[in-house]
Amino acid sequence: MAEITLKNLSVRFGAFNAVDDVSLTVKNGEFVVYLGPSGCGKTTTLRCIAGLVKASSGDVLFDGVRVNELSASERNIAMVFQFVSLYPHLSIKENIVFPLKARGVAKAQIARKLDWVTEIFKLGDELARYPSALPPGARQKVALARAVIREPAVLLLDEPLSAIDEQFREEMRWELGHLQRQLGVTTIYVTHDQREAMSLADRIVLMNNSRIVQVSEPDRMFFEPIDVFAGQFIGSPSMNLIDLAPVEGGLKLGDGDVTLTALRDRLPAWALSSKRPLKLGVRPLNVHLTDDADGVAIPVDDVFSVGRERFFSFRIGDTIHQGVDKRRSPSSSGGSVHFDPAGLLFFDAATGRRVDAEVAA
Ligand SMILES: Nc1ncnc2c1ncn2[C@@H]1O[C@H](COP(=O)(O)OP(=O)(O)O)[C@@H](O)[C@H]1O
Ligand SMILES: [Mg+2]
Repeated sequence: MAEITLKNLSVRFGAFNAVDDVSLTVKNGEFVVYLGPSGCGKTTTLRCIAGLVKASSGDVLFDGVRVNELSASERNIAMVFQFVSLYPHLSIKENIVFPLKARGVAKAQIARKLDWVTEIFKLGDELARYPSALPPGARQKVALARAVIREPAVLLLDEPLSAIDEQFREEMRWELGHLQRQLGVTTIYVTHDQREAMSLADRIVLMNNSRIVQVSEPDRMFFEPIDVFAGQFIGSPSMNLIDLAPVEGGLKLGDGDVTLTALRDRLPAWALSSKRPLKLGVRPLNVHLTDDADGVAIPVDDVFSVGRERFFSFRIGDTIHQGVDKRRSPSSSGGSVHFDPAGLLFFDAATGRRVDAEVAA
């Protein structure tokens, strides 16, 4: 196990900053997930930690010791990528023990470690088979077994599940989380899939445009996004974002004629008197339809089901937003829209940063 520290780390390719001044400490045994859209610098960061890409400036430290000049093989890390390359002409067993054999580890010890990973990854029935005989999910498990058999200080995983069928991905994700906790190995996992990040991470590192946007536990990232980007990147369907304009006793939504009022929608006093233009962020989960007249009268566009959930869309100005219809027996006609006061997030319209009572003053 190891603690990893990135200190003002930057990686430039020519004039392009792929990683821009990133600082972070990953604790011993922690499971950190790097999350962000394609091209934001996740893989480059991971490769820099692995020693496969050189830092242009800043430092990488393992347990407080600078490792910038150490090669990948000197760093005691193991890496698993999206597309696994097992040796096709070797059996599963031979594939798994390969890293130990290559290091000249004694036979008895290899046997012991093989038993250990076989047990953890439940690969007993597969050992004598060949990679081509295994489905992708099982092959990925073999790759993980091969990665951990030499007990690396750090496990680096780059979208390891994205080539696996949806059906097995969920199961593998669960197993992977379970395994990491069992092994207690410091793990950095890269993905663009927010659901994967939410279900696996001790902490999520959210990246955008080569920089860190927010570092926090999954729940906190969901309930207290630092800005509009974080609010909309996490959660599915995506957070609605609506312009607000102060009017007498409330806040007008968008450029339509719909107003949230202090009393009915329990708007915080500071938001009502805020001097800066705000945007309202509200997740579909926190907008529902009500048959009572206590909601906001907004024309409902459409009601539709996705799986067991029923969603609806409503229009403010030209923008379509979404909510969740939680009524047991919905009446097809009418209904009004209710915003859950606890689910209202306010953002500075100019900067996109979330504001609350403390910073709104
Ligand atoms: N070896 C390289 N040479 C030049 N540009 C690169 C190289 N590796 C990555 N990049 C660029 O750096 C940016 C970040 O890439 P990457 O770290 O792979 O993003 P992510 O993993 O988040 O999708 C991308 O725009 C990519 O094209
Ligand atoms: Mg990548």
